[in-house]
Amino acid sequence: MKASRRTRLAAGFALVSAAALALAGCSSGGGSNAQNQDTSGRGPITYVQGKDNNNLIRPIIAEWNKAHPDEKVTFKEQSDNADQQHDDLVQHFQAKDSGYDVVAVDVIWTAEFAAKGWLQPLTGDLKIDTSKMLKPTVEAGTYNGTLYTAPWVTDGGLLYYRTDLIKTPPKTWDEMMADCKIAKANNIGCYAGQYADYEGLTVNVAEAINTAGGTIVGKDGKTPTLDTPEAKKGLEMLVDAFKDGDIPKEALTYQEEQGRQAFEAGQLLFHRNWPYIYSLASTDGSSKVKGKFAVAPLPGLDGTGASSLGGHNIAVSAYSKHKATAVDFIKFMESEKIQREAVVKASNAPALASLYDDPELNKQLPYLSTLKTSIENAVPRPVSPFYPAITKAIEENSFAALKGEKTVDQALSDMQKAIKTAGSGS
Ligand code: GLC
Repeated sequence: MKASRRTRLAAGFALVSAAALALAGCSSGGGSNAQNQDTSGRGPITYVQGKDNNNLIRPIIAEWNKAHPDEKVTFKEQSDNADQQHDDLVQHFQAKDSGYDVVAVDVIWTAEFAAKGWLQPLTGDLKIDTSKMLKPTVEAGTYNGTLYTAPWVTDGGLLYYRTDLIKTPPKTWDEMMADCKIAKANNIGCYAGQYADYEGLTVNVAEAINTAGGTIVGKDGKTPTLDTPEAKKGLEMLVDAFKDGDIPKEALTYQEEQGRQAFEAGQLLFHRNWPYIYSLASTDGSSKVKGKFAVAPLPGLDGTGASSLGGHNIAVSAYSKHKATAVDFIKFMESEKIQREAVVKASNAPALASLYDDPELNKQLPYLSTLKTSIENAVPRPVSPFYPAITKAIEENSFAALKGEKTVDQALSDMQKAIKTAGSGS
């Protein structure tokens, strides 16, 4: 974890000079002479993404490889931790590695990677038709008016709850906290999201703050706005729930997978996670909650809460030597057939809008309409080339507040200062 943090900071500092260069007009859309300008190259490529929890990717690649014997795709699987995935990509881009052709890009990395000139703009003969994709996924792939990453899997937070213990899911945070007595009576934890000190914590803290009516940064994407009663209320909701034991202490170590395992083991009444766990919790041999859970929108103050927009788009590395093949592979991943496969097999949230209204799919996957609402109302995390420093400020300070080592006021004021510094590039 320590090493990964250092790399992230280093990347943050390196960005400052990249942005300065861009401002000075020394770089056009990040084009440096080490990049491969040829967009017509064809041949074998590598596809890089985080852990394939649902065993979805290998069969898709096998299907592609059967049809493209001269342009085979090799899968490079990263870990399941968003910070480690980020650092791995940064290291390979910094090394100008032509071996990472197509990469999955978390929605929060687009600005950083595009500003550094690491991603091939999807324009000209590499243009991709995004007209059928959900709008937020296209926006998440666009930086300064240019599409750099193509929509693949989007993500919205969902409230998983135990249908054997709760009849009607809570609509508000207060209702959910009131239901915690049911968890106590059953000797299980009440609620948990992801609160380990990593990107998932930023997701959860941003959700709490947005749900309480606050924001992290202003419209310019960099001026911090954490000195408001709404932001305070948001962070306080989480801090108080930890204090009361309504969020169990262990949740301070939870990333997505640990939370999922706790929910599957029957140890949580409510769980905030992404759609991918729906399929695992329903099919895993070891899942004790099979047939005993459903999903609802995240609870809000007086109605639905705000999810953070998550998801991964896919992009062509600026250093790839086989960009024409890379873009064909991206088009294949975006095809209706593969998008359908991703939702049916892995309960991934498709980027292709029409699938949410598909009657057949809705019959099979009853959470689809809840998911669509979650994504349509999802709030993007700050869009900035300096995102690594911004998220670090949120993670470190909110982690200290959740552990009771900083007051909510202190944590927010330290966050405010650190984000201001990050945004001014100093
Ligand atoms: C999921 C989301 C991604 C987010 C990450 C945090 O992978 O899709 O956007 O950053 O979780 O852990």
